[in-house]
Amino acid sequence: MKFGYFDDKKREYIIKTPKTPLPWINYLGSEDFFTLVSNTAGGYSFYKDARLRRITRYRYNASPLDQDGFHIYLKAAGEVWNIAWQPVQTDVNSYCCRHGLGYTVFESEKKGILATQEMLVPRGEACLLCRITVANVGEEKKKVDVFPYTEFCLWDAMDDASNFQRNFSTGEVEVTADTIYHKTEYRERRDHYAFLWANRTPDAFDTARDAFIGIYGSPAKPAAVFGSGCTGSIAHGWAPVGAMQFSLDLLPGQTESIILMLGYIENPEDEKWESSGVINKERAVAMQQRYDSDKKFFAAREELADFWSSLLSNFTLSCEDEHVSRMVNIWNQYQCMVTFNMSRSASYFESGMGRGMGFRDSCQDLLGFVHMIPERARERILDIAATQFPDGSAYHQYQPLTKKGNMAVGSGFNDDPLWLIAGTDAYIRETGDYSILDEQVAFDCDASLAQPLMEHLRRSFNYTVEHLGPHQLPLIGRADWNDCLNLNCFSEHPGESFQVTGPSEGPVAESVFIAGMFVKYGRAYAELCSHLGLIEEAEASLAHVEKMEKTVLDAGWDGEWFRRAYDAFGQPVGSKECEEGKIFIEPQGMCVMAGIGKESGEAEKAMQSVKEHLDTRYGIVLLQPAYTNYYLNLGEISSYPPGYKENAGIFCHNNPWIVCAEAVLGHGNRAFEVYRRTCPSYLEDISEIHRTEPYVYPQMIAGKDAPTHGEAKNSWLTGTAAWTLLSITQAILGVVPTLDGLKIDPCLPSDWKGFAVSRRYRGAVYNITVDNAAGAEYGVKELFVNGQPLAGNVIPPAPAGETVEVKVIMG
Ligand code: GLC
Ligand code: GLC
Repeated sequence: MKFGYFDDKKREYIIKTPKTPLPWINYLGSEDFFTLVSNTAGGYSFYKDARLRRITRYRYNASPLDQDGFHIYLKAAGEVWNIAWQPVQTDVNSYCCRHGLGYTVFESEKKGILATQEMLVPRGEACLLCRITVANVGEEKKKVDVFPYTEFCLWDAMDDASNFQRNFSTGEVEVTADTIYHKTEYRERRDHYAFLWANRTPDAFDTARDAFIGIYGSPAKPAAVFGSGCTGSIAHGWAPVGAMQFSLDLLPGQTESIILMLGYIENPEDEKWESSGVINKERAVAMQQRYDSDKKFFAAREELADFWSSLLSNFTLSCEDEHVSRMVNIWNQYQCMVTFNMSRSASYFESGMGRGMGFRDSCQDLLGFVHMIPERARERILDIAATQFPDGSAYHQYQPLTKKGNMAVGSGFNDDPLWLIAGTDAYIRETGDYSILDEQVAFDCDASLAQPLMEHLRRSFNYTVEHLGPHQLPLIGRADWNDCLNLNCFSEHPGESFQVTGPSEGPVAESVFIAGMFVKYGRAYAELCSHLGLIEEAEASLAHVEKMEKTVLDAGWDGEWFRRAYDAFGQPVGSKECEEGKIFIEPQGMCVMAGIGKESGEAEKAMQSVKEHLDTRYGIVLLQPAYTNYYLNLGEISSYPPGYKENAGIFCHNNPWIVCAEAVLGHGNRAFEVYRRTCPSYLEDISEIHRTEPYVYPQMIAGKDAPTHGEAKNSWLTGTAAWTLLSITQAILGVVPTLDGLKIDPCLPSDWKGFAVSRRYRGAVYNITVDNAAGAEYGVKELFVNGQPLAGNVIPPAPAGETVEVKVIMG
């Protein structure tokens, strides 16, 4: 069943009912100010950091669901409703929500009143804009009251949700004719405030939640809206809110608009005050004036649209499959921007209070983002690298606001260092900018320890070389990519962290997955070395890589697939010798992507085993058979009921690894089949089963062992976004940035007759047409650059500004 439809021309998903299986959200903002907004206007805003600088409040896990947000109540002829249906939930005659790139628009009609609510974060600004229009589409004169409402958060979202003894007494506001300023803690150490402003003077306002909502009221039945209007309350402590009331008289055919702004301002220490106790509003007023008319709002909207058109024009695909086209051209790239910005911090499944930016997560997110804004990817790489420890290990997470590593989790995730090589390598392939390797970067955020980025990569590489176990495979530490395979943890008490309990330096437990990574990204490192003329180091690195490759085929091969690991007792994990968890997806994907066993046949076998043991109609599950008991020696993975999350769920993140691995073997049909199964646009028709947004990837779909097989969770913030984009654009379509230029190496379903891609690369535009009249799965027969045949399939970089015509014939 569908709950909406794609409008590919407008690049929108249009939702036709507020009652979607779960809230379907969008992200507004792509720089510093962010708003999450659901299809019923639920959600919240924050500045840079969803935990430390939360601007509005949101209650996760609430019942009823998703009642906090940026709501517009309408009241006319004795009836109350919301433009976006929640929280009042009054039925309206028509409803629609359009989620677009960086904006969301609601439209609904009731009682002859057609109202719209359009929300966006303008480029370069720290504010949310919300433009409301109210039109009288009836025959008679109408009186309509419009009430915008949002609840302020007292900045640190974690503290706000727990420290009531203090926070019930700190709330402060200041009110002018058209603005409600939220200035809690500004009197002391904060240099920032937030505000709700309107471009016309409200008839009334409230700033105390108890007054607007009522002590025993709810957002679904606010006292002021259902009663006799806003009361002019001033919040002292308790819960400051921004609520306004506009009383409109509308003639038939008349439309009124109101522009609202939820803004965030920082003032230098010596410019905090206008006069004693009165905040300096200069910057706020200047920002308000930049958007005080419809014309200015429309200009902001256009600028945003241009921004997205230009970003997406870096990679555009034309092909016959509408699902693939819209995912590649619009939604998958869009999701990559969101994951780049958010890492795993703020979604409807991530509270924004737990993890900040993940080291491995952010490095992988780069893979799907670097072609859009390489300069930002560069900056991110340097930020991440600065949290690395001098021995090459890394803080697992860091806070975006402070850019400091999180002590609570610390380090010891032994795959982390290698992801830094992966991210940097992707950046250099994209840009050819080797200068990044010369940048001085701190270790452990200590500038006195700074070394060139290349030295960071070297220590990443060496960290693996220096931490090998009994089989000469890499030690796993607290966990590798699979956060839940905790072979050194042995946690027996509820509530303990599975990752942090127990030693990270287990001297026995080893990871075949990290070994695969080392072969893949160690080779990339060696290639970088030789490009820098470090020939000896390149050779020495390659020698380590080749040795590891042998070790994997030796100690990591189980007969029909790659083993997953060895536990703290030296027993294999992911082996036919195991009772449960005999085969895992990760080492099959990573080892084959690294080319291990390609010549000697193990790679083929591993892929066959994946198909035989792990395939389902909704994607490939992480392992089989699922763990039915909790195993002390395996950790969190066995804590999940069978079929969920890492315990045999369809972890979407590593499905594209199989796509890439199949492409390494030239299996175009199978690569595409795997791609298609988790592709959200293909699943739109079964939204009642899938439940999450049909325009973005979720982290996990319940596996075949779960009672809810096919149900997705944790949409939006997942490495799936970047890896899937990489798998379709590079493995299947075969447009691959390399150190030496753009390589064209498609691996297609044999019934694809061809496709065309336009790719901006190092400043030049490549118009690539691939002809597959031959019905091949793999193999470039001929390649022409501007009409001239080229030997091989790597096109040397053209000068910036040029357009290059590329014709590829497969066969
Ligand atoms: C989550 C984490 C990611 C990890 C994965 C598998 O998505 O963000 O870092 O690799 O789970 O456990
Ligand atoms: C849990 C989740 C995993 C995630 C991790 C982050 O272990 O199952 O997906 O990566 O938390 O700490």
